Amino acid sequence: MSEVILDAVDEWATATLAQAVAAALVVRTAGAVVALNGPLGAGKTRFVRELAVALGVNPDEVASPTFVLLHEYAGARTIYHCDAYRLRSARELWELGAEEWFDSAVIVLIEWADRVVDALPAEYLEVRIEVTGDTSRRFNLRAVGVSYDAVIDALRQRNAN
Ligand SMILES: Nc1ncnc2c1ncn2[C@@H]1O[C@H](COP(=O)(O)OP(=O)(O)OP(=O)(O)O)[C@@H](O)[C@H]1O
Ligand SMILES: [Mg+2]
Repeated sequence: MSEVILDAVDEWATATLAQAVAAALVVRTAGAVVALNGPLGAGKTRFVRELAVALGVNPDEVASPTFVLLHEYAGARTIYHCDAYRLRSARELWELGAEEWFDSAVIVLIEWADRVVDALPAEYLEVRIEVTGDTSRRFNLRAVGVSYDAVIDALRQRNAN
């Protein structure tokens, strides 16, 4: 299982990382599923916003989806942004139509993905965010399934340069 740990010293570093992830995801011909985990205020929505903006979405469109379970944005790819915080079970994710998303070219971003881990597809990219300071965050990016290894490689390479 390949993974990379990257530190963001501030929000702008988080933004840059999200842009790099966006770039690594759009080169895939298939869609993508990104499972975001980390405590309240970790920066999951912040990360989603930057990733979406990198794909041409208007930043004002990207809201915290806490009260709306699913947002859809049109960018270079269609993006579904889901917040599982209020979902009680993996089954509720299925009821939102998740099965269809996973087989499509859509980029699916799921906050609080741990809550619905049983409903995730066999392969996805996990982004785990740890709060390391007022403005700093540690990102642990992990390929679950070999098809995301290339994304991790791209991020490692970028970090080495
Ligand atoms: N390096 C950083 N990266 C991301 N966010 C940061 C960073 N430093 C500070 N922040 C702040 O942390 C907060 C992150 O909020 P955000 O809504 O993205 O969290 P979240 O993980 O989505 O929380 P929730 O679980 O409530 O959905 C924002 O207020 C943001 O300005
Ligand atoms: Mg959020």
